[in-house]
Amino acid sequence: MSLIIPDGGKLTNLVVPEDLQPAKRAEAARLPHLTITDYDLQWIHVLAEGWASPLTGFMREEQYLQTLHFNCLRLEDGSVVNMSVPIVLAITDSDAERLGNSDAITLSLGDGKDIAILRNPEFYSHQKEERVARSFGTTHIGQPTIERIMAMGDTLVGGDLEVLEPIRYGDGLDDFRLSPAQLRSEFERRQTDAIYAFQLRNPVHNGHALLMNDTKQRLIREGYHNPVLLLHPLGGWTKQDDVPLSVRMRQHEAVMEEGILDPESTVLAIFPSPMLYAGPTEVQWHAKARLNAGANFYIVGRDPAGMKHPERLNADGEADDLYHPEHGKAVLQMAPGLERLKIIPFRVAAYDKVAGEMSFFDPARADDFEFISGSKMRDFARNGETPPPGFMGEAAWKVIADFYRNM
Ligand code: ADX
Repeated sequence: MSLIIPDGGKLTNLVVPEDLQPAKRAEAARLPHLTITDYDLQWIHVLAEGWASPLTGFMREEQYLQTLHFNCLRLEDGSVVNMSVPIVLAITDSDAERLGNSDAITLSLGDGKDIAILRNPEFYSHQKEERVARSFGTTHIGQPTIERIMAMGDTLVGGDLEVLEPIRYGDGLDDFRLSPAQLRSEFERRQTDAIYAFQLRNPVHNGHALLMNDTKQRLIREGYHNPVLLLHPLGGWTKQDDVPLSVRMRQHEAVMEEGILDPESTVLAIFPSPMLYAGPTEVQWHAKARLNAGANFYIVGRDPAGMKHPERLNADGEADDLYHPEHGKAVLQMAPGLERLKIIPFRVAAYDKVAGEMSFFDPARADDFEFISGSKMRDFARNGETPPPGFMGEAAWKVIADFYRNM
């Protein structure tokens, strides 16, 4: 079986080939410099490996406007690919003035390390309030990505990137950071006929596992012989109270060791994108990036890429969901440019107190179910309590409990 074709026909790879690196490095050293943040670096990583194919660098104004207004990019041949989140580089007005006449700019980290050359830069206005209103449906500064964007510079600079070497973080997890090209060759090696991706930013509980295992059964029933799960935790920036990546990775490994997910038919890798918490807008990005990595099926459940509203309460006086929990799933199934990706939607899973396990919520016996949110799970861990048996594998829970106990 041949794998799904990446958006735009081929994966972009913006990393300079090894033999050209010394010359490019020397050139970079001579160019005017712009200091970028670790957050910008994560987007360079995303662009460099082709997760956002066919983008070849930070968005130019035309691309930015298409993303913001249509969640899509129109390609030269008239076809449309999905691209729902702006991938942009914000700079201050004084940097814009300083660099305004340059043909190429070197992007470097605060420690002086040169990361990439940005060619043919295009400077345009960063309408921050409009950007966040369109992407997030709110301008509330208590939403952590909005807070971040509102503190950025008022100019955006787009342009083509040449990345001087593969992006590495040296945190012991780089081996899990497989590029779309590496994932594609792994899927080819396994001779799989169905690749189903699962995006997550939380520890795997048995409700998550239910979605993944159910998908596998469905695919087998549909006649696929060798379905492979891409268990794909997001590894870029997350909000402060989310569980750190290193802990999540240990937890995911424990879930596989315990056999809650089948280690033989699972590829565990890290998705390098930062998290936005942009709900229905962001879930399209999450899906599109996995298509580029070779997945032809994508699982989605309750409130993907969602979070609590920073202020608003629901009818019960609890923090309300920022987005309607069913909208992400609905939008994803209709999203223009993602028609080639088969979306596998799931209804909400919750803890069934009668059965003592996670199962799909049944409104006919609502009182039998308990919803254990991420914050409730962290409270259990912080207070040294154990969640009800069947919520999460024992070894997997221990990873979480140990982390919060030692915090
Ligand atoms: S996300 O930000 O990465 O979407 P999370 O790690 O919580 O957050 O969710 C990963 C995936 O599991 C998403 O597709 C989400 O919709 C789904 N999901 C999470 N919790 C549930 C649940 N209780 N029932 C059904 N689906 C869920």
